[in-house]
Amino acid sequence: MRIGMLTGGGDCPGLNAVIRAVVRKGEGIYGHEIVGFRHGWRGVVDDETMELTVPSTRGLIHRGGTILGTSRTNPLKADDGVARALDTLERNHIDALIAIGGDDTLGVAAHLGGSGVSVVGVPKTIDNDLAATDFTFGFQTAVQIASDAIDRLQTTAESHDRVIVVEVMGRHAGWIAIYSGMAGGADIVLVPEEPFDIAEVCRQLEHRHHHGVHFSIVVVAEGAQPKEGTMILQSGERDEFGHVRLGGISSVIQQEIESRTGFETRVTVLGHVLRGGTPTAYDRVLATRFGIAAIDAVQQGSFGVMVALHGPAIELVPLEEALREPKTVGPDLLETARVFLG
Ligand code: F6P
Repeated sequence: MRIGMLTGGGDCPGLNAVIRAVVRKGEGIYGHEIVGFRHGWRGVVDDETMELTVPSTRGLIHRGGTILGTSRTNPLKADDGVARALDTLERNHIDALIAIGGDDTLGVAAHLGGSGVSVVGVPKTIDNDLAATDFTFGFQTAVQIASDAIDRLQTTAESHDRVIVVEVMGRHAGWIAIYSGMAGGADIVLVPEEPFDIAEVCRQLEHRHHHGVHFSIVVVAEGAQPKEGTMILQSGERDEFGHVRLGGISSVIQQEIESRTGFETRVTVLGHVLRGGTPTAYDRVLATRFGIAAIDAVQQGSFGVMVALHGPAIELVPLEEALREPKTVGPDLLETARVFLG
């Protein structure tokens, strides 16, 4: 068989470990040819390929980013995007396609699956917001980076009697914010799941100050929203999947805290730092298990599915199940975190 593979959406620690695993078992054990498409769906639309072999994918387990490159190109946006993608797959004699990505990339995979392409999805996002899998690879690395940063920021906050607002990624869900906030001992965590009231945030900070604690760490997910009418946020430009480019909510919060409380308040936006560098050991292993499960699914002829972590096991779930709605932080975890906040 000739099997295509692509990485789409934001880069994520562990992508190269998936690529390596697919090639190692796909070529090395099953004897298939693996064809990489460059820059996500753009490479499928524009027929940009890259040979993937066991020798060319050696030494990748610890490398961040993706050797295939990635993009947020959406073939469903252009009039002839799907037709061109189907042509490319036919021209390259692709029998099956492994798409590694988040909801956007996998949504396109599901669409092409409906047009007869044999697709298998691998869930990737540092945001951990994909349904039908307990965890996505990359999430644990992002949490580790964020909690390391919070540890370091605590020192400055305490030494200078400052409030530090730490902005982390998390578009639809506050997984990174809540995990890193809990791990780093943050005092306030703002997540998209629970719209916040800036007056209440300031009240909590003042309460701490009145009790002799003159520094605070506020962790905010980039997608956190104020309760209607409590703050004005700017809207940004959109990508091809219709998502607003986020980032910057922390500056608005910083201004509000400073003007309402008078406490010196600073901002650190972790942004793409959370997606960069080497994956943690956990993510390397999870990504490797996902890659092996994906090539096994192709070998068994199971298509229209996504590999998923369920407890200790890797299982196959229908792609549609994974795409139904974002997986958000549940009330139990929010309740547990609340014990330590404020
Ligand atoms: O999808 C993961 C993510 O990290 C989001 O949390 C964030 O909003 C987005 O990617 C940013 O993507 P880009 O690098 O394309 O701006």
